[in-house]
Amino acid sequence: MPGIRSDFITDYDSLADAWWDPRGPLAPLGWIARARAAHVPRAAREGAWLLDVACGGGLFGPHLTGKGYQVVGVDLSARSLREALGHGFDTVAQADIGRLPFADASFDVVTAGQCLEHVLDPFRVVEEACRVLRPGGILIVDTIATTVLARVLAIGVAENLPLPGKPPRGTHDHRLFVDRRRLVATAHAHGVALRLTGLRPHVRDGLRYLVGRREEVRMIPTRSTGVLYMGVGRKC
Ligand SMILES: C[S@@+](CC[C@H](N)C(=O)[O-])C[C@H]1O[C@@H](n2cnc3c(N)ncnc32)[C@H](O)[C@@H]1O
Repeated sequence: MPGIRSDFITDYDSLADAWWDPRGPLAPLGWIARARAAHVPRAAREGAWLLDVACGGGLFGPHLTGKGYQVVGVDLSARSLREALGHGFDTVAQADIGRLPFADASFDVVTAGQCLEHVLDPFRVVEEACRVLRPGGILIVDTIATTVLARVLAIGVAENLPLPGKPPRGTHDHRLFVDRRRLVATAHAHGVALRLTGLRPHVRDGLRYLVGRREEVRMIPTRSTGVLYMGVGRKC
């Protein structure tokens, strides 16, 4: 795709100190991580493994405490991976999520949050996530839809209004947003029947966050998957 940036990793390396700032540019990722974790069951067996694809600074880690998994993270940003290790990740690997350095059927749960919209071939990442998932294991993905509304809200509004939690300009490129039907079809072709739901910030929490009266905004499910959406499915 002409003009697509390929230096997102440099961004995440340079933002690594901001992962845990509740009012910083990566804060909304923490809100989404909590919503994602609600779909992770307690481990069904001793020694179960969870892989977080593009784990970044490990915002997902604290939400997995007590669920009984060995937690593995993979990302290209070395500085972010160091953060993840200090926040509930047992093991990390620096690798491209389009070529996961793990054997087939290695994980009981695979999550890929807020990363598919940063790569040129998100469907390849989904294929890889399905490949490393065990039969019976759970796949959880969340990303941004290919709609005009998503473009307006995730880029036009979120990246431009001078508010706490605002991602840096240029974080997203709408051409990388992820087609829902193709995502579901790709997972299906690899044995995972994904069910999609939308996600949006809780309005009252959002307002209280903006005026400094809350440190976190709850993300709540919506029927519309036209902006931010999550897919959850079990591998057959
Ligand atoms: C928006 S952050 C999401 C991080 C984390 N999943 C979360 O929700 O907090 C996107 C992450 O994807 C990583 N990333 C982007 N492209 C990647 C690639 N090709 N291989 C590995 N990691 C990648 C970045 O380094 C960054 O940590």
